[in-house]
Amino acid sequence: MLDAKAELVNQMKPVLDQPVVSPLRKLDEDLAQIPGLIRLTLGEPDLSVAEHIKVAAQKAIAQNDSHYAPSSGSLNLRRAISQYMQERFASPAYDPQTEVVVTIGAAEALFASFNDLFRPGDKLIIPTPAYPVYATLAQQAGLEIIELNTAPDFNLTPAKLKKVLAQHPDAKGMIMNYPANPTGVTYQEAEIQELVAILARTSLLVISDEIYAELSYDYPHTSMAKWLPNQTIVVSGLSKAFAMTGYRVGYLVGPQLLVQQVQAMHQLIVACPPGPMMAAAEEALTHGQTDLALTRQLYQRRGEWLLTGLAKIGFQVIRPAGTFYVFAKIPTAWREDDVGFVTDLAHKAKVGLVPGSLFGAGGAGYVRLSYAAAESELALVLNRLTAYVN
Ligand SMILES: Cc1ncc(COP(=O)(O)O)c(C=O)c1O
Repeated sequence: MLDAKAELVNQMKPVLDQPVVSPLRKLDEDLAQIPGLIRLTLGEPDLSVAEHIKVAAQKAIAQNDSHYAPSSGSLNLRRAISQYMQERFASPAYDPQTEVVVTIGAAEALFASFNDLFRPGDKLIIPTPAYPVYATLAQQAGLEIIELNTAPDFNLTPAKLKKVLAQHPDAKGMIMNYPANPTGVTYQEAEIQELVAILARTSLLVISDEIYAELSYDYPHTSMAKWLPNQTIVVSGLSKAFAMTGYRVGYLVGPQLLVQQVQAMHQLIVACPPGPMMAAAEEALTHGQTDLALTRQLYQRRGEWLLTGLAKIGFQVIRPAGTFYVFAKIPTAWREDDVGFVTDLAHKAKVGLVPGSLFGAGGAGYVRLSYAAAESELALVLNRLTAYVN
């Protein structure tokens, strides 16, 4: 290992003086060392990208789409995003010129938003259990995290929202993420309207991460864009629903003033997104509805099947209404020691899960399973879990 010169440590940005590593990635790397282990850890779809989407990328490469694109993304893709958001989620007609930015995955959209739309020291409300990256990003942007623990039902209710707002009237921002990673909880339109009625009376900026919007099983997804457009940035992307994780195409939409602020940071970080991947994304958003319907059906079937299997061997699970995650309570003998349970399970049963405590307050005593895995693997996992529990 090559050591950095000692003095350099003191001149780094203070919030980064602890190495900021995604705890989920770290755990996943540790588990990967165990021979024969099946990992249901990362939210990585096992499906392949649809042929017509691949062809769009290939065609763009063949036609020498190899130059710098506009920094906020190709205008065609920005138009497609705006139209898709209107058609699918009744969002306002975002201006493709100024109110849409194509990012390198939702990851970059989140990074740029956290860093450009708040000031160090600002309070950010994060309903938990939550995608751990929010806390890491908030930490590196110097924000103060206010955890809003939604346990035990993991529903963000108006009462819970009112309580946190009364305790922190000076909060500047709030994260919404639904269908939610890791719990699979999502909201009906009337529930979103109730939350919006409260939020509209505040000047909180809402960063609404709707990357699982197309994986809502019980009812159509309602976007914050429809009901709270003036104070919401919607972050999304093609990674999950179109199984395009490695294509790295995400986007954000919102009011011009806010989007242009993020665009300034985005331009500095990435210059522009890659052309062929944007061509693929445009094809997916304009001609991908059949793929989405099939994907939804497939995940729904897998989810129901996994849930039934887990219930049979005594796991208490909240039925997910969206995403491809199941958040399950660990056996009572382990109380809240989800890390101990996951470690034991990995070594004895060769099954890799994510401890719930990684997702923040309310997650201890749970594990997250991703069912974006092949059915044969899921069957093997159920067999191994059954043998372990017995
Ligand atoms: C809630 C949530 N937001 C954002 C992301 C990042 O997605 P992308 O691949 O578009 O960067 C993930 C990926 O796991 C996620 O679960």
